[in-house]
Parts: sequence; structure tokens; C-alpha cells
Amino acid sequence: MKTGKVFAEVKESICLKPGFYRLVLKASQMAKEAKPGQFAMLWPTKSQEPLLGRPISLHGIDQKKGEVSFLYQTVGRGTALLANLEAGNEIGILGPLGNGFTLQSNAKKVVLVAGGIGIAPLLPLAAALKNEGKKVELLFGAAKCDFLVGMDAFADLGCAVAVATVDGSLGQKGLATDLLKDSLAKERPGHIYACGPKPMLKAVAEIATESGIPCQISLEERMGCGFGVCMGCVCHQKDENGKEKLARVCKEGPVFEADEVIWHG
Ligand SMILES: Cc1cc2nc3c(=O)[nH]c(=O)nc-3n(C[C@H](O)[C@H](O)[C@H](O)COP(=O)(O)OP(=O)(O)OC[C@H]3O[C@@H](n4cnc5c(N)ncnc54)[C@H](O)[C@@H]3O)c2cc1C
Ligand code: FES
Repeated sequence: MKTGKVFAEVKESICLKPGFYRLVLKASQMAKEAKPGQFAMLWPTKSQEPLLGRPISLHGIDQKKGEVSFLYQTVGRGTALLANLEAGNEIGILGPLGNGFTLQSNAKKVVLVAGGIGIAPLLPLAAALKNEGKKVELLFGAAKCDFLVGMDAFADLGCAVAVATVDGSLGQKGLATDLLKDSLAKERPGHIYACGPKPMLKAVAEIATESGIPCQISLEERMGCGFGVCMGCVCHQKDENGKEKLARVCKEGPVFEADEVIWHG
């Protein structure tokens, strides 16, 4: 269990679009250990303010350079402080944390479904899947084009990319799940992976179950410790007998088998 916060130097902090940032850290140990789908707790300052770290997914893992990167959206105090960082600053980091995605070796084609900033943990997954020679399709949805970031990196890896926006400002008008239904009608993938807002994940899980396609989803909950002790991040899961049990998103997750999650509300 990782419980030791360390400090890492900021290599780069870039605003990609208003409200969306990429942060690159020199963190060779984390780069060595990290797997797609894992996350880190980040403390934007060297002081104790804010007291709690903020969970952010690993977006880039470069073992050779000893660097990790994060893609985030500013929503409150912690992420606003992260956005102020400059190259050469030091920040607190803890990780890699949690259980990441499992690569399915028997799937020839896989589909990745991303909602908004949920695209972040899917990039290292896409890289690992492409490395295994798989056909990878990214289906990316957001409310409007201003909220679509990071998709070019998937195209650069050789993934097929389809986009949907609710207001029709880019790509197909509609939801990422509309793209998923269209994609499944054309070609059945061996596996689906998804990250995004809960209603999208629930809908993706239902589509995957109806179609009999294995699916893993990355869940988000507000977190305290990030490593399993505060019980601040529980979700509901089925045990082996189908009975409801609690699981910690930071420890048993954030990635879960979609058919094991119980959705309340
Ligand atoms: C495992 C995990 C991975 C994540 N990866 C990323 C990522 O790669 N990029 C990214 O932009 N965000 C990611 N998040 C969400 C990110 O942790 C929150 O946006 C961040 O903690 C908000 O901190 P804040 O101080 O800026 O906002 P706060 O002031 O704490 O909150 C502002 C608003 O954001 C909401 N919020 C806070 N924490 C969460 C959370 N954990 N999930 C959903 N909503 C939240 C609050 O309810 C509130 O409405 C991830 C969350 C988890 C649990
Ligand atoms: S955040 Fe503390 S147990 Fe998950």
C-alpha cells in the first residue's frame, strides 16, 4: 500500500483550452510502476493547503523519460491551484494508486468510450492496446466542442476517433452512447472500456450487458486518503453470490467490471 507522499518537479504545465490543463511531472518511480487506469493524489503546493490531495488519473506514462502526465479540468480550489503551477515548481504526489484496466489479450478490436474529461485515463490504455496490435476505436462525447480535449493524441496512436456533442458543435449531435450503439451495429468489439460521468457509465454498462460484451469502467468518487483507509469513496458492487457489498473506489477500483457495479439512482 502506497502511503508516502513525495515531491515531484513540474516539467511542464500547459493550458490546452480555457479550463483544461496538461501537467507533466518528473517522477521516475511513478512512471516505472504506473499502469493504465491508475491515478495519483496531487497536492498543488508544498504547504498543507489544501489538506487533502486531489485524485487525478495518469494520462501519460513515459518510463524512458521518467515522466508522468495528467490532463485535468479546473472545477474548484484544488484544480485552480494546480493550474497556477509553472515549470520548476514542486508538488506533492502519492501514487500510483488503485487498480487499473485489464488488457484483454483475446480481443482483436476494442472500443473506448469517453465522456468529457473521462478521456484522461484512456490514453495510456489506448497506447498499451495499440502496442498489442489491437484495433482501437475512441468514441468521445461532451456537452459542446469547448469540452473536447485530448483526442488528437488518440489519432496519433492510430486509433479511429468519433466525436459527439450534445449541442452538435462538433461531430455527431448526441451522446457518446449513441456513437457506441452505431459502432456495435457495424462491428462487434471484443471489449469495451469507459470513463466519464456516472449516467454515461451506467448507460454504457447496460448496452454492454445487453450485447454480451465484457466491459470495464473507471468510476469517480470524492476521495479523502486515496489508499483505502478513510472509507470516503465507497460504491456498491455485487459479490460472487450477487449480494450487495461496498467497495472502495480508490482501492478496489477505480476500474471495475461493469456488470459488478450496482447503480443507485
Ligand atoms: C480516481 C479519480 C480519477 C480522476 N481523474 C481525473 C482526471 O484525470 N482529470 C480531472 O480533471 N479530474 C479527475 N478526477 C476528478 C478530480 O479529482 C476532481 O475534479 C477534483 O478532485 C476536484 O478538486 P477541486 O478542489 O478542484 O474541486 P472541489 O472544490 O473539491 O470540488 C468542485 C466540484 O467538483 C466536484 N468533485 C470534486 N471531487 C470530485 C470527484 N472525485 N469526482 C467527481 N466530482 C468531483 C465537487 O462535487 C464539486 O462540484 C478524478 C477523480 C477520481 C476519483
Ligand atoms: S479515499 Fe479513503 S478509502 Fe478511498
